[in-house]
Amino acid sequence: MERLLIRDLTQLVSPAGRAAPLRGPSLGELDVIEDAYLLVEADAIAAVGRMRDLAPLGGEVIEIDGRGRCAIPGLVDCHTHACFGGDRVGEFALRASGASYEELHAAGGGILSTVRATRALDEAGLRGRVERHRGWMQARGTTLFEAKSGYGLDRDTELASLRAIRACGGVPTWLGAHAVPPEFPDGDAYLDVALAEVLPEAARIAEAADVFLERGAFDAEQARRYLTACARAGLALRIHGDQFTEGGAIPLAIELGARSVDHLEATGHEGVAALARSEVTAVLLPVAALVLGRPMPPARALVDAGAAVALATDFNPGSAFCESLPLVCALACTQLRLAPAEALAACTVNAAHVLGRAATRGRLAPGFAADIVLLDAPDWRYLAYHLGHDHVAVVLCEGTIVPAAADAPGG
Ligand code: NIG
Ligand code: FE
Repeated sequence: MERLLIRDLTQLVSPAGRAAPLRGPSLGELDVIEDAYLLVEADAIAAVGRMRDLAPLGGEVIEIDGRGRCAIPGLVDCHTHACFGGDRVGEFALRASGASYEELHAAGGGILSTVRATRALDEAGLRGRVERHRGWMQARGTTLFEAKSGYGLDRDTELASLRAIRACGGVPTWLGAHAVPPEFPDGDAYLDVALAEVLPEAARIAEAADVFLERGAFDAEQARRYLTACARAGLALRIHGDQFTEGGAIPLAIELGARSVDHLEATGHEGVAALARSEVTAVLLPVAALVLGRPMPPARALVDAGAAVALATDFNPGSAFCESLPLVCALACTQLRLAPAEALAACTVNAAHVLGRAATRGRLAPGFAADIVLLDAPDWRYLAYHLGHDHVAVVLCEGTIVPAAADAPGG
């Protein structure tokens, strides 16, 4: 069996314990080993510890020099829209001069302009896009990503998107209810077709279903109908909720036993308290709030109340053209009032929990997948502290070193 030893690490850092999701004070508990080693066997972590406790290893071992470097778990991005064609740089410029995201959407731009560009790609083209975006994510330390469909909104493009995401190693989510496509008079007419003609096959490819519950998209009753059908087909449930308005996403997520409710920029005290009493994870997306000039989600209140909180990029061409979880961690520490340790747990263990993978991802501990990031930094907290700098030096996915981003295939 192939073995790999990362030795003389300045620090090795992992969320403490084995529980998931981490809540309240546990979210900030990290194990930090100074002057550490990490031993990988095949695709899994075999041992971690202090250099002085490293017993001689017989046989062949590949070594990586960890001097001046800190090891953290591979980052987990549990909310992206990485399968899309085109871009929205023109809208970005319009927003910079005062146009609002909702106005652009209502005028047929926004999500629907990306739908047009995505429908123009065939499956190989979609795969090329996801591969390129995966390369960008990996270069920033993401070793596991979720990606949603939702820019096809017709049978062929939705299913091709889900297959492309899966082919690129992503965890596919069917965002069949992202927007009402122009060929339908209303959301109900669209859902009739989506549930009858797309869901049966989407449920074979995707792991979860997601809906954009918001004025101008789908209301709570439509979301309930869509999610109930998806749950019956065996999919886990997610909701884009409370991005601009509190539209009942949190009660619905709790009622239906959803994995997560994501965004929450508009969530008030009652929503915070309800989430804290529930099993639903709050996925916070501070880049979208930043880019759209929205209030930041109530992260501190959620953590203090005991809710399970995860962080993600929301990578998409409109509201969050950003694949960097280190940048998300920086925003979490400067805008969401989370400690660096809380931010790290939120985009490792808790994000893995949202994807149903917390037993094998999100920690540097024996038995976990060898998804490892080495930071060129004297302290792992540079990840969030050094704003806009790239400290990611080496990324391993299941024990294999990921080639540098420049080598990542384009699309
Ligand atoms: O999570 N809010 C809805 N969906 C995405 C944005 C998608 C887009 O603008 O293309 C989000 O922010
Ligand atoms: Fe999103």
